[in-house]
Amino acid sequence: MNKITIVGAGRVGESTAQFLAAKNLCREIVLLDIHEGAAKGAALDIQEVAPIFEYDTRLIGSVDHALMVDSEIIIITAGLPRKPGMSRSDVLSSNIPIIDGIMNGAMKYAPDAILLFVTNPVDVITYHAHISTGWPRHRIFGQAGVLDSSRMASFIAMETGFSNMDINTMVLGGHGDTMVPMLRYCTIAGIPVEKFISEDRLEAIVERTRNGGAEILALRQNSSAYDAPAASVAEMVDSIVHNRNRILPTVCLLEGEYGHEDIAIGVPAMLGQNGIVDIIELDMNTAEQTMFDHSASLVRKDLALLKSM
Ligand code: LAC
Repeated sequence: MNKITIVGAGRVGESTAQFLAAKNLCREIVLLDIHEGAAKGAALDIQEVAPIFEYDTRLIGSVDHALMVDSEIIIITAGLPRKPGMSRSDVLSSNIPIIDGIMNGAMKYAPDAILLFVTNPVDVITYHAHISTGWPRHRIFGQAGVLDSSRMASFIAMETGFSNMDINTMVLGGHGDTMVPMLRYCTIAGIPVEKFISEDRLEAIVERTRNGGAEILALRQNSSAYDAPAASVAEMVDSIVHNRNRILPTVCLLEGEYGHEDIAIGVPAMLGQNGIVDIIELDMNTAEQTMFDHSASLVRKDLALLKSM
């Protein structure tokens, strides 16, 4: 891939640029921010890592949306982060105008790009971008479930002592307290996780996963998580750049899948060079579908808020 733009040179944006460069995923990364020094400083700092990590990615920091031109992927991390005690929905009204400005830039300068959203509340922001651009859903989606699944996998590794490499997890639904960890699809080397972890410990792991973002925010106080979110974005970009067709939980616009439409929410999607290749529909049992519907109902509350804005 030639060029990826990251909008927002805050911690998530900067860390994302570092991971993309370190994984040699493109020739050029443009880091855009309303603070020119922040964008240029981060770009230069990461550029100076290149001789050590051995990548040839060129990094450019700027305030100028025109530099989006010819980007194959635009990753949007810009927006106000939540503060301790705030939910992801609490930053909705501040972040919509920021996203609108970025969408205007994308429509003008990179109308064929794939848009990957990280800004919270990510399900609502992804939906909003789809409506405001009118772009097809295969190239407008968000990151949430890869992060939530990675958190859950980490907790399972800590609990059991098994290798992180052998643990597979899948967290669907909205990126909030009602996310839907699909325990039936959680395995360690293909073995159902229930063989190794008791029901009450699994319940504790699910709770910790749901609270994963808030746990880090409460510890740091002045910053949300950024390394694991950025690594999760890099995982999705890697599947796109290498056309791997991996199945990754992705915030997708639904058109009837899982019994929902007119909403963006986390479902398993196959990601390849054109973005979403396919949405995988799992047979949910009643409990799973109830959890998913509940999670969707909370996303819809924010969508109603959005429509009233
Ligand atoms: C989190 C934020 C980034 O889950 O949503 O850490």
